[in-house]
Amino acid sequence: MKVLLTGGTGFVGNEVGRKLSEQGHDLVVLTRNVETAGARLSYPAKVFQWSGKGRVSAQALEGVEAVVNLMGEGIADAPWTEKRKKNLRDSRVQSTHDLIRSFEDLEDSGEKLKVFVSFSAVGFYGDRADDVLTETSSQGEGFLAELCAEWEETAREVLEKIPQARLVIPRLGVVLGECHGFLDRLERVFRSGVGGKLGDGEQFLSWIHIQDVVNFVSDSLSHQDMEGIFNLCAPHPVTNKELTKALAKAFQVKAFAPVPKFVLKAVYGEMSEALLFSQRVVSEKRNPKSFQFQTLESALEDLYGDLKKNEARLLTHLWVPQKPEDIWDFFSSETNLEEITPKNLNFKVLGKSTEAIEEGTLIDYKLKIHGVPAKWKTRIRDWDPPHEFVDEQLSGPYKRWVHHHGLKPFRGGTLLTDRVRFQLPLGSMGRMGGFAFVRQDVEKIFSYRSQVVWKKFGSKTQNS
Ligand SMILES: NC(=O)c1ccc[n+]([C@@H]2O[C@H](COP(=O)([O-])OP(=O)(O)OC[C@H]3O[C@@H](n4cnc5c(N)ncnc54)[C@H](OP(=O)(O)O)[C@@H]3O)[C@@H](O)[C@H]2O)c1
Repeated sequence: MKVLLTGGTGFVGNEVGRKLSEQGHDLVVLTRNVETAGARLSYPAKVFQWSGKGRVSAQALEGVEAVVNLMGEGIADAPWTEKRKKNLRDSRVQSTHDLIRSFEDLEDSGEKLKVFVSFSAVGFYGDRADDVLTETSSQGEGFLAELCAEWEETAREVLEKIPQARLVIPRLGVVLGECHGFLDRLERVFRSGVGGKLGDGEQFLSWIHIQDVVNFVSDSLSHQDMEGIFNLCAPHPVTNKELTKALAKAFQVKAFAPVPKFVLKAVYGEMSEALLFSQRVVSEKRNPKSFQFQTLESALEDLYGDLKKNEARLLTHLWVPQKPEDIWDFFSSETNLEEITPKNLNFKVLGKSTEAIEEGTLIDYKLKIHGVPAKWKTRIRDWDPPHEFVDEQLSGPYKRWVHHHGLKPFRGGTLLTDRVRFQLPLGSMGRMGGFAFVRQDVEKIFSYRSQVVWKKFGSKTQNS
């Protein structure tokens, strides 16, 4: 199937896109920045520029049989000023309207379009204490409830404008995934030593494992009987108190004192509704057995079960059009590290213990971290050309640093995976003082790396 994704460069979009691509679907992505999008995609796609306003080019929509509509400015990225509220709305409601109109305006009036999956969120239900909320429960109050209701109403224009298309509206709970989204933010807070329950901790949170979101979208495309609203949350929502306890256990830290409601309201203003509103949402339409992760414990075990004490992690994926054997030499040669490392680190290779890199090779480097000179020695292990290797710090600025490089054949090209696990010196003091700071630095290094690699290997012909 030819599937068009909006928000395909984001957290959920990347996971959904990769799965659909793996299943053989051909993907088209609409993005606000066609130049940088390739470096943010973990799957092959035809990429088209679209700001979310006005008509989408007919070329992008040509032959599209399914839409997965995920675009939207981050709800919790910054306080909700009037301007931000307008952007939150326009990037969902206006964009959905314009996208549907663009299909309608096609010469064939979008007659190939079979299914339109337009995301919404459990924010639709407002603040509902411990009421069990199903797909037929009424809309609640508050900005998010109004925003979701309007987003859904706009998606329903599909039914009128493109009558043969099936409409699926998942009301998404908080998505749990490794190193991204909600959990990533909370991990920073908990590891800085200030994670605690919010308000009285009695408010319910409806969550879902990213894998179950991906499976839902995949089912939506192929199951002709899936239609209308779906609460897309695991069968067992938890209270904030339960969540706090489970996260402290998963991150292996102590929960801090509760953060009172009035502090959250003073700091976050109206946005505090996203933290304090209670939504105990379940699905009457999706079989609980179809969720791979039904309890919070099982989801956290999957995502954090192998976490070491005081360990931080980073995970990135990037798809490039070359085969692993054609790019292995570049990624496995220490001399290219200088090219893909930010210049301000002054990264220099000093030498290595064997002529060619192999299992057990030792490599010496020097670099500057925020201007402070440091030396680094790593050992290569798990050397398995052209698919994977690991470099592990023997001595250097970290207490421990393990970087797994994966090159997996994927849709005629390679899915590059970088998985880093590191620990800072000074045990829990290092964790509390430096986790967020150092983690951010490491993130910037890998984001730079993706951009350079994409520029070097990404096919220009993909972008339109
Ligand atoms: N993650 C969750 O826990 C969760 C829960 C409930 C609902 N949702 C909803 O699900 C959708 C996807 O979530 P996500 O976590 O994947 O979000 P994300 O990582 O922030 O990605 C959203 C994508 O939307 C596009 N976008 C951002 N701001 C935009 C703007 N002002 N105008 C137009 N496009 C914009 C961006 O694509 P480009 O930069 O390529 O343009 C971005 O990659 C969002 O609408 C979100 O509200 C998410």
